[in-house]
Amino acid sequence: MRLVILDNYDLASEWAAKYICNCIVKFKPRQDRYFSLGLPTGSTPLGCYKKLIEYHKSGNLSFKYVKTFNMDEYVDPNNAHILDGNAEDLQAECDAFEEKIKEAGGIDLFVGGIGPDGHIAFNEPGSSLVSRTRLKTLAMDTILANAKYFDGDLSKVPTMALTVGVGTVMDAREVMILITGAHKAFALYKAIEEGVNHMWTVSAFQQHPRTIFVCDEDATLELRVKTVKYFKGLMRVHNKLVDPLYSMTEEN
Ligand code: PGA
Repeated sequence: MRLVILDNYDLASEWAAKYICNCIVKFKPRQDRYFSLGLPTGSTPLGCYKKLIEYHKSGNLSFKYVKTFNMDEYVDPNNAHILDGNAEDLQAECDAFEEKIKEAGGIDLFVGGIGPDGHIAFNEPGSSLVSRTRLKTLAMDTILANAKYFDGDLSKVPTMALTVGVGTVMDAREVMILITGAHKAFALYKAIEEGVNHMWTVSAFQQHPRTIFVCDEDATLELRVKTVKYFKGLMRVHNKLVDPLYSMTEEN
């Protein structure tokens, strides 16, 4: 496991975007070899997405041969744009999603976010650590945390969601998890300093051969000083992963 600690949200977002950019460029995607990228929803990845847009606009990064798979989607009958969540047969929709991932040759890099309760995608506490894409009922903590996206009105927050399973993400060749903010500090502690536990589903990634956690200082507040010191000491090594920042124009 790698733990990359940046001073603040903006720097963590930029680091994550550079890492994703380098993964894609180094892969050299082409028509017969797409790069498959799993992406999270939520507010955490927004800074990273903005940076990726920047790299795209400046011509460094192309998404022409990149397939993306979204981690989760609300089941919300009021929103006609959410196709998956409106499917007549939700389980068939989930099975088809798993099939599409398989057809794409699996996910090369799954980027994820977590909730303060340690959920990865919408795999709420108690979810099976080998779960696949399915319909989940959301925990009250998640509904409360996400009310901000629905005018703070709890009655508007969907209570169910379609989500990839922990097993679906575990199958990715590489996983990057973004964790920022003091409100996620306890979850980061549970994720990396305690054992694998289905009540903190993100902890499953202790058993993934290639997981990289990218966080800000605030998210490390519950970690042991020696953990933080050790990983900060590795920053020179970690920074080699994003510096230099590769560019499509140079590589192709
Ligand atoms: P957030 O959501 O990025 O908006 O904090 C993450 C999550 O609940 O998985």
